[in-house]
Amino acid sequence: MSNFEGGGAVVTGSARGIGLAIATVLARHGASVVISDIDADAAGEAAAGLVAEGHRAIAVPCDVTDEAAVTALVDACRESFGSIEVMVNNAGITRDSTMAKMSLDDFRTVVDVHLTGAWLGTRAAGRVMREQRRGAIVNISSISGKVGNFGQTNYSAAKAGIIGLTKAAAREMAKYGVRVNAIQPGPIRTAMTAAMPPEVLDRMLESIPLGRIGEPEDVANAALFLGSDLSGFITGTVIEVAGGRNM
Ligand SMILES: NC(=O)c1ccc[n+]([C@@H]2O[C@H](COP(=O)([O-])OP(=O)(O)OC[C@H]3O[C@@H](n4cnc5c(N)ncnc54)[C@H](O)[C@@H]3O)[C@@H](O)[C@H]2O)c1
Repeated sequence: MSNFEGGGAVVTGSARGIGLAIATVLARHGASVVISDIDADAAGEAAAGLVAEGHRAIAVPCDVTDEAAVTALVDACRESFGSIEVMVNNAGITRDSTMAKMSLDDFRTVVDVHLTGAWLGTRAAGRVMREQRRGAIVNISSISGKVGNFGQTNYSAAKAGIIGLTKAAAREMAKYGVRVNAIQPGPIRTAMTAAMPPEVLDRMLESIPLGRIGEPEDVANAALFLGSDLSGFITGTVIEVAGGRNM
C-alpha cells in the first residue's frame, strides 16, 4: 500500500493508545519509527515491542511542551534514520470540568500540551522537512474541537486551534513539498474512553451512524494515508475518523 523505505517517522505521545497504534502501522509499512512520550519507561517498552516484531524503532523521551526537547527529538530521528518523512503530533491529556470549576492552570496546561506541543512539533519537523524538500505532518485534533464538548472548554479550544495551525502551516510549507493535515477522531477505544460509565458509552454508541466505537487502528490508518504519498495532493485538510458522528 505504501512504503517509507526505512525513512524516519516521529509520533509524540506514542507509548500507548492511539499514538502507539499510529507508530505500529507506520512501522508495518516500512517506516523507522521514533516512539516518543513523556513517560520514558513506557516509551522504551513500546519501542522494544516494535523491535521484537522485526521493525526499526527507538525510544526518545520528550515532553512536547519543552522547546529544546522537541528540537532534539526531531534531530534524533534524522540522526538515527537519515530523514524525517512523517511527524505525528499526537501527545495529549484531558483535565475536564465545567468552566465554572476549571482552574486557569487546567486551561493553560491542556492548551500547552495540545496546541503549543503541536506547534513546536510542526515547527521543528517543518525546519528539517523544508531542507529535505519533502515530508508530511499529521496533527491529531478531535471532534471536540469541531463541535465543542461539555466540560472541555480547554480541550475543545486547543483542538480547534490545531486546525488553524494545520491550515496556516500547510500554506507556509507547501512550496517546500511539505504537507500538513489533521485528523479529528471521535470516540476511540483507549484508556480515556474505558474510564467512561457504561450508560454514557451506550448513549454515545446510539449517536454513531456506523454503530461502533472507533479503534486506535482506525485513526492509525488515516494517519498512514496522510503520512504517505497516497495523499500527495492533499494538504491543509481535516479527516474525521468518527464513524459519521457529528458529520
Ligand atoms: N481516545 C479518544 O477517544 C480520542 C478522541 C479524539 C482525540 N483523541 C486524541 O488522540 C491523542 C491520543 O489520545 P489517546 O486516547 O491515545 O490518549 P492516551 O492517554 O492513551 O495517550 C496519550 C499519550 O500522550 C502522552 N503525553 C501526555 N502528555 C505529554 C507531554 N506533555 N509530552 C509527551 N507526551 C505526553 C501520555 O504519556 C500518553 O502516553 C490525543 O491528542 C487525544 O486528544 C483521542
